[in-house]
Amino acid sequence: MTMTREEAKAKVIVALDVPTREEAMVLVQQLHNEVGAFKIGMQLYNSEGPDIVRDIQAEGGKVFVDLKFHDIPNTVAQTSKVITGRKAFMFTVHAAGGHTMLATAAEAAKEMAAELQVKKPILVAVTVLTSISQQEFEEEIGVKRPIEEQVVIWAKMSQAAGLDGVVASPKEIKAIRQACGEDFVIVTPGIRPTWAAANDQSRIMTPKQAVEAGANYLVIGRPITKQEDPVKAAQMIVEEIMTAEI
Ligand code: C5P
Repeated sequence: MTMTREEAKAKVIVALDVPTREEAMVLVQQLHNEVGAFKIGMQLYNSEGPDIVRDIQAEGGKVFVDLKFHDIPNTVAQTSKVITGRKAFMFTVHAAGGHTMLATAAEAAKEMAAELQVKKPILVAVTVLTSISQQEFEEEIGVKRPIEEQVVIWAKMSQAAGLDGVVASPKEIKAIRQACGEDFVIVTPGIRPTWAAANDQSRIMTPKQAVEAGANYLVIGRPITKQEDPVKAAQMIVEEIMTAEI
């Protein structure tokens, strides 16, 4: 079964990895009808402050707040309430914070959404950063098991704690889907259409491959934002996703 254009658009999250509000807003104005959401990372959030969330929403864009919270449960829970109050579409916490931190964050987001009568953000955990090598994982972080095994352990823990899903590299999608089932949300960066440069990403998949592997959302930055015509690039990606067999 293939999907409609609207379903395919909803899967695309544009990473706004730009330093200023001005640059971000140009992209939002160009792309808000072409994609599902915009991801704000720590660079843009910290340079422009939380009002950037409101500014993007005012243009009709949904916002994925990717600040990867990792602190004691109470601090993360209170912050989850703040982010829910800002009507984020999605936000991230670190699985390394442990079950209690994740469960408290999920509960807090749920409570706040009910209190304000807003949609609960999709809450996803970051597991092992893809920049960490197996050697660093064992020697510096001190975990003596294959990274992929740890990713699945943390995905299952996140699910048990009431999170909606995880952020995962393309090569981890299948194992997580198998361990956590069909309803678990998998958000995948490292996406490169065949016509785009790989840049610094090494374990990449095309949009079609990632959706066929089981990704629910694709985080795509430079293959859209650094193209001469970002609208055309986004449309080509959406059309490619529409051809995915799922
Ligand atoms: O430009 P590009 O498509 O590579 O951007 C990918 C986005 O996904 C960036 O915002 C990057 O920080 C993020 N990301 C990633 N790999 C991870 C986690 C997040 O590329 N493992």
